[in-house]
Amino acid sequence: MLTPDELFQYNPDLTPELMEKVDEVIHSYKKKPGSLIPVLEECQRLVGYLPVELQEYISQGLNIPGSTVYGVVTFYSFFSMVPKGRHQVKVCIGTACYVRGGKAILDRVSQHYGLEVGGITKDRRFSLDAVRCLGACGLAPAVVIDGDTYGGVRPDKIVDIMERYQ
Ligand code: FES
Repeated sequence: MLTPDELFQYNPDLTPELMEKVDEVIHSYKKKPGSLIPVLEECQRLVGYLPVELQEYISQGLNIPGSTVYGVVTFYSFFSMVPKGRHQVKVCIGTACYVRGGKAILDRVSQHYGLEVGGITKDRRFSLDAVRCLGACGLAPAVVIDGDTYGGVRPDKIVDIMERYQ
């Protein structure tokens, strides 16, 4: 099993301080049945995402095969194997939003922040996802930033909206 120092060398996001907290989470759930998902949720909340090194560490800590951990992480969309920004921007390109300018919003965000869909800005301020429907078609085109939903978004206004999120 990798030590916290070795993990830090492989992945600088996994600081020894964070790994101490990860250890506490693993320890507190270790003997409980059905512990994998709550442990993954807590660890993602701590680290921000679930890199493979961390998955391996959790697998060993809970004595669950790595393939099972990987399978769960990739099955549920709320788990992420890549870092997320401090603010998560979801631009809808479902049909209702697409025809009202969703794609133009996406292009504006990509161009202004140099962001690819699924990517993260260098300062980790924003991560960007394109989604198929936010369940707010009546507000099309819709964008969600963290938990805030914006409707009727104009492409030339999206940067102003995002600038409220530091
Ligand atoms: S298609 Fe965009 S919210 Fe439904």
